[in-house]
This record gives sequence, C-alpha cells and structure tokens, in this order.
Amino acid sequence: MQPYFSEHFGNASSIHHHGQETRAAVERARESVAALLGCRSSEIVFTSGGTEGDNLAIFGLVKPGDHVISSTIEHHAVLNSCKRLQSLGCEVTFVPVDGRGLVDPGDVRRALRPNTKLVTIMMANNETGVLQAAEEIGKIAAEADVYFHSDAVQAAGKVSIDVKRIGCDLLSISGHKMHAPQGTGALCVGKGTNLQPMLYGGSHERSRRAGTENVPGIVGLGKAAEIAKAALDRGELSRMSEMRDRIEQKILDTVEATGINGQGPARVPNTTNIYFDGIEGEALVIALDLKGLAVSTGAACSSGAIEPSHVLTAMGLPAERARASIRFSLGKQNTPGEVESALDLIPGTVARLRELSPVYHASSK
Ligand SMILES: Cc1ncc(COP(=O)(O)O)c(C=O)c1O
Repeated sequence: MQPYFSEHFGNASSIHHHGQETRAAVERARESVAALLGCRSSEIVFTSGGTEGDNLAIFGLVKPGDHVISSTIEHHAVLNSCKRLQSLGCEVTFVPVDGRGLVDPGDVRRALRPNTKLVTIMMANNETGVLQAAEEIGKIAAEADVYFHSDAVQAAGKVSIDVKRIGCDLLSISGHKMHAPQGTGALCVGKGTNLQPMLYGGSHERSRRAGTENVPGIVGLGKAAEIAKAALDRGELSRMSEMRDRIEQKILDTVEATGINGQGPARVPNTTNIYFDGIEGEALVIALDLKGLAVSTGAACSSGAIEPSHVLTAMGLPAERARASIRFSLGKQNTPGEVESALDLIPGTVARLRELSPVYHASSK
C-alpha cells in the first residue's frame, strides 16, 4: 500500500500517467477480489466496508411496496437496514433460526410472496461463526426469480466462496476481517442486477458508487484477497480450526457449566462462542483483557443497560446465558503457544468471577 500514499498519488479517474498508474493498481486489486469470490472483476464495486455494501445491496434494490426476506441473526448493518425499509413502506419477514443458529431454507421458501424482491441472509454469523445453507437458499431465490444478497463479511477469506455456485446476485465483504485496512470493502454485484446507486456523483465504479477511489485501501484489500485465496487453496486454515477446537475442548473439559453456542453446523474456522454460566460476559472480557487476552461479547451496550445478544437470544438462549457468553476469534498469526497461554488464564479467571456471583452459587446449590 505504501507507494500509493506517496509516489503513486494520481487520481485513478485521471487520464494523465499518474492516474493511469493508480487505475492499473485498482484494476489489479479488483481482479484479486473477484478471484477470491469467483466472480468477474467487472462485478466488483469497492466500498468503505461491510456496512456500505449491505446498505447498497438493500437500498439499491428495494422500493416501497416490495417484500424482503431476512433472518433474525443478521448483523445490524442488515438488520437495521431492513428496519429502515419497514419505516419506508416495505414489508420484511425475518425468518427464525434453530437452536444451532441455522436458518431453515424451507422457511425462506414459505416466506416468499408475489412481491418479494430480495432475500438477504448472511453467509457466516459474526458471533457464532455458523455458516448458513447459502447454496440452498440461493436456489430457492433463483427459482422464485428473487434477488439473493449475502453478507459474507465473516466468511470471506475463511471459507472458499463461489458466488456463481451459491447463486448469489449480491455479496458484501469487509477488508478488516481479512487483514486489509479498516474502512475498505467490496460488494459483488452480479451482471444484470438492476442496482440503483446510493451515492450520486461521478461515474466511478461503473456508476454504482460515486466518489474518488481510496486507492491505498483498495490496493490493501486486493493484496489481502490474494493472500487469503492462496491460504485457502493451500488448505492452511485447518491449522486455525485445530486451534479453535483445542480452545473448545479444553474449556469444556476444565471449566464446569460451559457450552458452545452454535455447535454442530459447519462454522468458519476462527470463531467460537462459549457460555460460562453464572458470570457476566462483559466482566470476563474485562478481566481477561487485563491479563492480555482480547476476547469479546456480542452484546451491545445501549443506554447503560447491557442487552443480551440478539443472535444468541434468537437461538433460544435465555438472557442470562446469552449475557454469560463470549466470543473467541483467532487470527492467522495466532500460534498454538498463544492458545495454551490463553487457556491457562481462563479457568482461574472464570472461577474468581463465579466466586463473586451470588447467582452462580445460588443456582449451583
Ligand atoms: C457480519 C458482518 N456484517 C457487516 C459488518 C460491518 O462491516 P464494516 O464494519 O466493515 O462496515 C460486520 C462487521 O463486523 C460483520 O461482522
């Protein structure tokens, strides 16, 4: 990326040689992202991230009076876009998930209406890592002649994606989930998809996203896509799922009253979501952070009250268990040694928090 902050500074839309240099770099990046997703480079629209891609897919297609099918476990980039659609006079059906976090494709079929315009269902959930039956859902949408968008922010670079096989008309990804810079991303827009832009201005990105391109960011996204594809092709991610499995097995073996949220279905290799009954997930996140281990909850803190994760409650977890859940995410630089160090910290930290918990002692008596 560095040369594109300094010596290669041309505007990629300029016809002089500085512009042509950066244009070539943008187009090389487009080819790398297309290769990762199995689409044509002309189908890639560079965005500022997953949120923009999701919004562009949804608001670019749906008009008042249309019906949309989504799910209860979407990221807020989709969930809140769908809620906005409702306030604009669109109908939205949020199909449920089962206890493992899976959408039943039959529910998608049953939700179809004559005015259904779009099915938007994520590929991998950001809290549990659970992968949906995207291909089956894509087939149902195609048979009904309905557009299918998938938020693949958590899936890109973690599992191989082929938009043609999935039958996906639109698919969004975000750079920072695959080691590209924050604030970068792409939306794949299948040929023939009648998408209206959200931003009006110049004819950048084939008139689908106006505005001067973020050349260094796009170059970074392209390189990250190239590296991710090579790692997927070489089967390197099995190392990550082995570390994920080790975390799960050790925690379940050594810490009582724990369990995995979303166990059973196929998942991305880097994510696990584990409940520790009797504690507040936020407290565990803070306690582990103080010891140098960065984990997270799916919980959103709104107006001082910690809301349990909408994903975990949609899976049927009671609010206390959802609040007692934390997500561990691995990156490709993590090592088995780091996993062992993390595992050494967890049982003692959980035990100390449980000692302080009147709820845990009352319920375990
Ligand atoms: C599944 C999913 N969709 C969308 C987004 C939003 O992406 P961005 O932060 O790049 O806008 C995220 C971010 O974490 C995500 O996990």
